[in-house]
Amino acid sequence: MGSSFSSQGMVLIVVAVSLLAVGQAKTVVVGGSEGWRFGFNYTDWTLKNGPFYIRDTLLFKYSPPSNAGVHDVYLLPDRWSYITCDFRREKLVGKATQGGGQGFKFVLNQWRPHYFACGQGANRSHCNQGLMKFFAVPWPHWHL
Ligand SMILES: *[C@@H]1O[C@H](CO)[C@@H](O)[C@H](O)[C@H]1NC(C)=O
Ligand SMILES: *[C@@H]1O[C@H](CO)[C@@H](O)[C@H](O)[C@H]1NC(C)=O
Repeated sequence: MGSSFSSQGMVLIVVAVSLLAVGQAKTVVVGGSEGWRFGFNYTDWTLKNGPFYIRDTLLFKYSPPSNAGVHDVYLLPDRWSYITCDFRREKLVGKATQGGGQGFKFVLNQWRPHYFACGQGANRSHCNQGLMKFFAVPWPHWHL
């Protein structure tokens, strides 16, 4: 009985939090005017530009493959693969061709860590050496 009640309570809280989040989303350009590029410190950028909230949109802008310096956007599955730039269980979310023009949009609609990284370069050098990785944990909106 008790545990059934508390799980219902939990569902109500989650629903209420989701409702509060409506209409407050913002769009953030990753890296600001630097965009998504080799050598920019996205960990530092995240510390200065966070926190992010559920339904916020991250906008990745990067040069199309015809230009020097091809980039893309992957989600890595966990903190360890993120730390080590291990792409074995990666998920491609933004292709190399999607960063031009209006850029590639990723909506943070789940309350969990998102580990972003660029998969380009020999030996994933954009992630390993180019600092092209960061993680974001979008938070619910607690206030109206
Ligand atoms: C990137 O920024 C983070 C956070 O400010 C810092 O701890 C780290 O040393 C920086 N990395 C490099 C390579 O500058
Ligand atoms: C990539 O890593 C492998 C294994 O560590 C190494 O043998 C190779 O030289 C590296 N290639 C480049 C371009 O760094």
